Amino acid sequence: MAASSPPVVVAEVRDRAAMARCWELRRKVFIEEQGVPEEIELDEDDARARHVLATVDGHAIGCGRMVPHGDAVKIGRMAVLADWRRRGVGRLILEALQEAARAEGFRKAILHAQLHAEEFYRKCGYEPLGEPFEEAGIAHRLMERRL
Ligand SMILES: CC(C)(COP(=O)(O)OP(=O)(O)OC[C@H]1O[C@@H](n2cnc3c(N)ncnc32)[C@H](O)[C@@H]1OP(=O)(O)O)[C@@H](O)C(=O)NCCC(=O)NCCS
Repeated sequence: MAASSPPVVVAEVRDRAAMARCWELRRKVFIEEQGVPEEIELDEDDARARHVLATVDGHAIGCGRMVPHGDAVKIGRMAVLADWRRRGVGRLILEALQEAARAEGFRKAILHAQLHAEEFYRKCGYEPLGEPFEEAGIAHRLMERRL
């Protein structure tokens, strides 16, 4: 029998050290891999957002955040390290954020999906709304789901 792999742990960010690990991960994924300008990647919403960090054996592999947006939460900055994609980590991060939003009383989540990630969000229960638009030089579409 194959040795079992260590579990992915998704936890809310509660201190500056964990936040710094999210920023490091987002730098790798959005700034270095996708070419998003740093001044756009790091925005003022970070200060009021709730963030989650995914780790394996203590190593940071993914993150995401949410902010209140009217009667919904807006989920964003979803990032999984390239070597860890397509193994269910993004779904775990999304579910942790959705659970936290539900516990706060929110019943709807929205997000701006990069078009290449639309299928990922569809598989996680999100429906596309309207036409694509450009944000940070990348094509996006508004998506939403009930919580
Ligand atoms: C988008 C992203 C967060 C997805 O994370 P992930 O860990 O690879 O996703 P998961 O493995 O949890 O995928 C869940 C489901 O979506 C599917 N999926 C994931 N990425 C997909 C893609 N790019 N295209 C089509 N399907 C995809 C998976 O196959 C899986 O399907 P299944 O339920 O049938 O098995 C990750 O690809 C990423 O960090 N990309 C770079 C940053 C980025 O673009 N973020 C999104 C900004 S809007």
